Amino acid sequence: MRKNSRKWLSMLLAASLAIAFTACGQSGAPAAEKTETEAVESTETGMSTETPEANEIVEDASAAATEGAAAAEASTAGEISAAAEASTAADDASAFATEAAEQAVESIDYMVLVNKNNALPVGWEDVLETVHMTNSVGDDVEVEKKAYDAYLRLKEDLEKEGIYVDLDSARRSVAEQERIMREFTEKYGENYAFKTVARPGYSEHHTGLALDLYLIIDGVDVVLNEDMVQYPEIWEKIHQKLPEYGFILRYLQGKEHITGYGYEPWHIRYLDNVDIAKEITESGVALETYLGAAADPYVEIDYGTSQIYTQEELEEAVIRIKCEFASWEGCELHKLSYAGDEANNAENLEWLNDHEGGGSYTRAAEFLSDFHSPVQAAGAWEPDEEYKDYQWWLARTDGGDWEIVDYGY
Ligand code: DAL
Ligand code: ZN
Repeated sequence: MRKNSRKWLSMLLAASLAIAFTACGQSGAPAAEKTETEAVESTETGMSTETPEANEIVEDASAAATEGAAAAEASTAGEISAAAEASTAADDASAFATEAAEQAVESIDYMVLVNKNNALPVGWEDVLETVHMTNSVGDDVEVEKKAYDAYLRLKEDLEKEGIYVDLDSARRSVAEQERIMREFTEKYGENYAFKTVARPGYSEHHTGLALDLYLIIDGVDVVLNEDMVQYPEIWEKIHQKLPEYGFILRYLQGKEHITGYGYEPWHIRYLDNVDIAKEITESGVALETYLGAAADPYVEIDYGTSQIYTQEELEEAVIRIKCEFASWEGCELHKLSYAGDEANNAENLEWLNDHEGGGSYTRAAEFLSDFHSPVQAAGAWEPDEEYKDYQWWLARTDGGDWEIVDYGY
């Protein structure tokens, strides 16, 4: 079964520029002016296929873009996207400055939402009270004072069970966040950086209420992300204790499309309210959903059977689709089904490799989706309609991550 509509190609050029950044960080990105490449009329379906998401993804590809100089030298898709963002950074900054004059916070709001779409509230630093500590590797860590007290109690409790943790990072300045973004981009590449590091100004770490833990195992500091994820059982025990001390795990597995970030077992968030922390943890929702900032409706997933992909690989693909879908404003995803191993054939791979950004894909996967378009569709969809068996095509290189290469009928 091969996707038969190639007329989506030009709109997908815009999207594929963005795919490099599709690390689930684009949901709810501010709408941008449509570009020519985004609006394509599908004669086959009679549906206007203006992509609602492509430009938004490009626009939201974030922090490296603070270096506006990149614009002049942009030569890759990533650099072009980063440069596009750079041009919006000044606008953002001036918008915040205007807000600053009007709405400075008067006290700490422990339930504050700082995420991809919500910057640190203006005036926060003026009301934030912090303490400094030195961790086991000799780094100074600054933490909001009540969060630190709660952390010390959590740490003491964990030690009774033979689990040793320390603080890698808590409150960060915008300059520090910029440095981390640069470091991660250089070390791990843009894709990983965008799904792991918040855009400066939009990091929960700016609040002082977000704490990154690291593990100390047999006296050895386990600090790197890729090392820490090797200890899921230890994290599980830590996570169970969080609510008792007013913390939640912030970047949950399976909620990447809501939080905008990959799973981070080390990043905990202080809420200063044990009952709310328990309620959020027990419900399994992300803070965004608890606060009413992001709906998280049930999506039926049918993984079918596969001889070539593990459940984990299919779950990764589903996360990619959900992340992408989250930026389709007003659309509600109902069902995703794996279409079967036969999609991974030579003809489809050749077709996918012909797309922008392709060339060396060795694996393909097709999913079918059912979703509802917005009641008042703004040009992109037939309004208030249930779309059935809408195709998603993903591909990856050997050892690479899934990329969404195409979608449509
Ligand atoms: N790692 C989280 C998302 C941050 O950079 O704030
Ligand atoms: Zn963190």
